[in-house]
Amino acid sequence: MDRPYTYVWRFEVAAESLAEFERHYGPDGSWAQLFRRAPGYIGTLLLKDRANAGRYLTVDRWHSESAFAHFCDTYGDAYEALDRECEGLTLAEDLVGDFKRMNGPAVDKPHAPATERNRDAIALVLREHLADRQRVLEIGSGSGQHAVFFARQFPHLTWQTSDRLEYLSGISGWLKDAALPNTPAALQLDVNGTWPSSQFDAVFSANTLHIMSWPEVVSMFGGLRQVLGPDATLIIYGPFNYNGKFTSDSNRQFDLSLRAEARSAAFVTLKRSMRWHRRSECIFWLTSRCRPTIDVCVAAWGHGGSGDVART
Ligand SMILES: C[S@@+](CC[C@H](N)C(=O)[O-])C[C@H]1O[C@@H](n2cnc3c(N)ncnc32)[C@H](O)[C@@H]1O
Repeated sequence: MDRPYTYVWRFEVAAESLAEFERHYGPDGSWAQLFRRAPGYIGTLLLKDRANAGRYLTVDRWHSESAFAHFCDTYGDAYEALDRECEGLTLAEDLVGDFKRMNGPAVDKPHAPATERNRDAIALVLREHLADRQRVLEIGSGSGQHAVFFARQFPHLTWQTSDRLEYLSGISGWLKDAALPNTPAALQLDVNGTWPSSQFDAVFSANTLHIMSWPEVVSMFGGLRQVLGPDATLIIYGPFNYNGKFTSDSNRQFDLSLRAEARSAAFVTLKRSMRWHRRSECIFWLTSRCRPTIDVCVAAWGHGGSGDVART
């Protein structure tokens, strides 16, 4: 069995860079967001020395050393780019070592802090649009935290989680501990692969499209046609542009970093005529009571764009 892989780095940070350092290296900072794109990442702990304001430790936890190696193989370029960006923040940094945890549960559940911040705003939209739905397929469930939260909030729904193989044990950990009656075991679903044979009347997906490559987005909409009937609801939450503009500077930076990686689809500007919706900082793409197809997606997204629909 794989053993958890936990490594610790020590940093010395200049007084003027403390806030920026904490933004990048915190449990939901740019490093954690990059790690989260690969399977097997559990989370990051940022520790600050009480006696020396400029000294920090980071503790990064992975399910296994091979999960970390897979991350390095897949996202090596993005890792180096972020490393270069953060170089100026630190006066010194060194790898303290690889440590073994001596207590706590044998299997850690993954933890995505952002889900705890965005779930209430998402739930407001789901409450409105899933009121008369019964079976929801979630694509790219990630840690599984959203699923547990929404399934508890909306007991009338059967909430079917799914993700790529490497994510399933983390999702199962959350489902098992919550023991809800409306969350069947997570399905293995890579949008490039085989889709479930069952039918759903809604699909929900959060923070996935911008992570996927364009061919994966195309596959996803091909698959949606198979699992959704003509009267379906599709709710996609993610970092879309709003009125053709980025909603924050950090989103602009994030978009640039995605574009630097040829494999990611980057942000989208939705066509005005599509149903989309902004609540606070959350942007949703809703296609209700229709069958979402790749034509709808291309019309909305305009990949390789023509006319008034262009990918930003
Ligand atoms: C940034 S995480 C978001 C996870 C979760 N939905 C959330 O909001 O915290 C991106 C998710 O997209 C999933 N994903 C990426 N490519 C995929 C693919 N080809 N098929 C299915 N899921 C994919 C990843 O496995 C991961 O769970």
